[in-house]
Amino acid sequence: MSNRGVEMLRSLGRNNHRTTLENVLAIAEDTLFDWMFGTETARHVEQHELDIRNDVGFNMYTPTRVRAFRKLLDHLALPKGQVFVDFGCGKGRVLLAAAQYPFDRIVGVEVAPQLCAICRSNVAAYRRRHSGTLDIKVVQCEARAYNVSRDETVFFMFSPFGRAIAAGVLGNILSSVEECPRKVWLIVNNPREIGPSFDANPNLDSHSEFTYGSSLFWIWTTRSGSRS
Ligand SMILES: C[S@@+](CC[C@H](N)C(=O)[O-])C[C@H]1O[C@@H](n2cnc3c(N)ncnc32)[C@H](O)[C@@H]1O
Repeated sequence: MSNRGVEMLRSLGRNNHRTTLENVLAIAEDTLFDWMFGTETARHVEQHELDIRNDVGFNMYTPTRVRAFRKLLDHLALPKGQVFVDFGCGKGRVLLAAAQYPFDRIVGVEVAPQLCAICRSNVAAYRRRHSGTLDIKVVQCEARAYNVSRDETVFFMFSPFGRAIAAGVLGNILSSVEECPRKVWLIVNNPREIGPSFDANPNLDSHSEFTYGSSLFWIWTTRSGSRS
């Protein structure tokens, strides 16, 4: 039986019917997504398969469920004209899903060169088949080294690294907000590790929560749009 089949059976055993149904739909939509856009975003990648150092905080590459992410964006109904950044974008599934929403620009930040290469080729494949927000940039760097631009407003992370690196990234975002006050959304998929430290930050409002199937997102906004 395929990995997906095993995953579905496990889900049936663990969850209530609604969660199970959502998980099954989410797994089906992930498969459809790659098929429709000629991309490869599904295969998980472990650190030992990549040419990167241990101290960058790498967790394995695992993609966000595209259906859960779309439901989240539908639920948030962000004002038009935001700029979306995925810290630890991996193969770029979230970037491509975000491209179907009215973001002005989309940026993926990824430390692993091999994943950046796959991500760029996925973006190229997507561009050949689909219209939408086509201003998608992939930046190869460690997340803390990324220079947050003044127009960037929606920041996404899916378990890319631990608390120490997340604190550095959050510090950069908040410094940028201090220099150029604006409303900012921070979204963390699977927030168990870094979520509590964001909760403790006095510059962020307390989080709201969104779940779809087994995916859990926490969302913060900056307190009154400024650090002070
Ligand atoms: C769980 S995957 C999430 C992929 C994508 N954001 C998604 O939701 O589909 C985490 C990604 O973060 C990247 N990553 C880990 N540590 C990083 C760091 N310090 N700087 C930038 N990227 C990092 C990994 O290479 C991996 O691709």
